Amino acid sequence: MKVNGKPTRTIWVDEMPGAGPGRVGIIDQTRLPHEFVTVSLTDLDEAAHAIKAMLVRGAPLIGATAAYGLALAIHGDASDARLAAAYETLHATRPTAVNLRWALDEMMKTLAPLPEAAREAAAWSRAGAIADEDVEICRQIGLNGLSLIREIAARKNGAPVNILTHCNAGWLATVDWGTATSPIYHAFEDGIPLHVWVDETRPRNQGAALTAWELNNHGVPHAVVVDNTGGHLMQHGMVDLVIVGTDRTTANGDVCNKIGTYLKALAAHDNGVPFYVALPSPTIDFTLTSGFDIPIEERGGEEITDVWGRTPSGEITTVRVTPDGSPVVNYAFDVTPARLVTGLITEKGIVAADREAIARLFAERAAAAA
Ligand code: MRU
Repeated sequence: MKVNGKPTRTIWVDEMPGAGPGRVGIIDQTRLPHEFVTVSLTDLDEAAHAIKAMLVRGAPLIGATAAYGLALAIHGDASDARLAAAYETLHATRPTAVNLRWALDEMMKTLAPLPEAAREAAAWSRAGAIADEDVEICRQIGLNGLSLIREIAARKNGAPVNILTHCNAGWLATVDWGTATSPIYHAFEDGIPLHVWVDETRPRNQGAALTAWELNNHGVPHAVVVDNTGGHLMQHGMVDLVIVGTDRTTANGDVCNKIGTYLKALAAHDNGVPFYVALPSPTIDFTLTSGFDIPIEERGGEEITDVWGRTPSGEITTVRVTPDGSPVVNYAFDVTPARLVTGLITEKGIVAADREAIARLFAERAAAAA
């Protein structure tokens, strides 16, 4: 998507390895929406830090960054031992998004059989392919989701289609296009009148900071609402469709996504609002058949006690919002059971959140995990 009119991805190659190790460019997402800052990653530790500290975040982008991290890690030592250690370091950065493991496994499948001397070039090439594949997958998700938005628009006689989304499953969470936002961008480009309700998504405010920044840059009509507003909007007929992303969806269609997603699904169910999940197939974990087996990341308490932002005088700072001494608990994700999900918007089409239906659509991956 475009930043200040310039086509931009969330991750790119700044420099291929030569005498030096190569450099991978990323957007430091911890500085948005107030500053647009790019950073160059040059080694394994920097790549691992970028994922752990959430300079990059969102399941597909975490996967692509880990792939490049492995390529950076083997400069000067592409031995089996180095590969295994780099895999472990990157895999340990964040527990919930399964694209991380998927991308690392894809890299290992390519690299492990090769002689050491051929591994570095192959790693850069496979990491680049993973990034390019993600762009194409997300574009297809957008085209498949567009049909849903078109159908709703046809019933609304020119009134805007109101779509609610949670967290940031936008282009910043992927390499480009986004998952939940891809249908929105495609519909907007298609001239369909629409309006997006953006959940702020405490504690890190990925909705308020990132999704709103994206939509604003792109000129898509939207409004940021606090996390508890969705139920009220749905009760008053102000939401036609919910589209969220996911960090890991199990073989039976249980959806793990940013904390608070489950409550939106309950409200949608109670109010007869369709609740769709947009996801690339690498986000499906065919090894699990219950969402309750997904490891839920618990993050630092400072994400709850402190809020980061810009003061009226322009200073960018952090302020404390809880009393000193009050304990906090910070679960980053929750699980929405498949029964509350209207459908999954994938690159291969829209499918029911149901074990057999998912396995039919992605037969090869389902069989490989069986
Ligand atoms: O903790 P984050 O910001 O990495 O979590 C990202 C999300 O939960 C997104 O909402 C998402 O849908 C998964 S990425 C498309």
